[in-house]
Amino acid sequence: LLVAIDGPAGAGKSSVARALARELGFTYLDSGAMYRCVALLWLDSPEQQPAALAREARIEMREDSSRPGSTPRTILNGHDVTEQIRTPEVSEAASEAAADAGVREALVAKQRALIAAGDWVAEGRDIGTVVAPDAALKIFLTASPQERARRRAAELGADAATVLAEQMMRDERDTSREHSPLLKASGAVTLDTTGMTLADVVQRIAALARAARARY
Ligand code: C5P
Repeated sequence: LLVAIDGPAGAGKSSVARALARELGFTYLDSGAMYRCVALLWLDSPEQQPAALAREARIEMREDSSRPGSTPRTILNGHDVTEQIRTPEVSEAASEAAADAGVREALVAKQRALIAAGDWVAEGRDIGTVVAPDAALKIFLTASPQERARRRAAELGADAATVLAEQMMRDERDTSREHSPLLKASGAVTLDTTGMTLADVVQRIAALARAARARY
C-alpha cells in the first residue's frame, strides 16, 4: 500500500511522512532528497548535464535502526550527504534541477523501482500526479505561506522574512514549471495544517490510510 503526500515547501511533508511511516510501520521515501542529491552533484560539476548526473547517481536512503523515526541517512555514491543537501544553496539548485524533464524522468524511474514492493509513505511534489497516480491514498498537504516560512525558519535557524521570500520564488517555480508542476492529484485529500499539531495531522492521515487498507 502506498500513501502519497504532496504539497509545497514547508507544509510539514517530511515531519508528517516520517511520523506517519513510523505509526503505520511503512517505509518512508523522501523524493525531495533525491532532487537535492542531483543538485549537489550539479553544484560540484556545473559543466555536466543534470539529467546525466541524475541517471548515474546511486542514491540510497538508510534508516537508522537504532533511532526509529529519525531522518533516514541519504547516501549518494557511497557518501553520507544527509546534512550537506539541506543548505539554502542546494535547495535553490534542487528546485532548478527539478524543472529539467530528463532529471525528472531519471528520478521518477528510481522512485517507481523503490516503491514497487512493500508499504510506503512517499513524499514530494508529483507522487500522486506522476510517480504513483494509483496510490491507495493521496494527500495534498498545505499551510499558509507565513506558517510554512515560520516552520522552515525555525528548522534552519534562519530569518523568517528571508525564508518567506525564497520560498515564494520556489513555490512559483514549482507550480509554474512545464514538467510535472506541483498540482493537487485527482482524488487527493487536501489537508491544511495551519494551526494543527503534527500529532493531529498524523492521526488524521493514519485513519484515512487504515480505511484505504480496509478497502484494498
Ligand atoms: O521537498 P524538498 O524541499 O526537499 O524538495 C527540494 C526540491 O525538489 C523542491 O523545491 C522541488 O523543486 C523538487 N522536488 C520535485 N519533485 C519531488 C520532490 C522535490 O520537483 N517529488
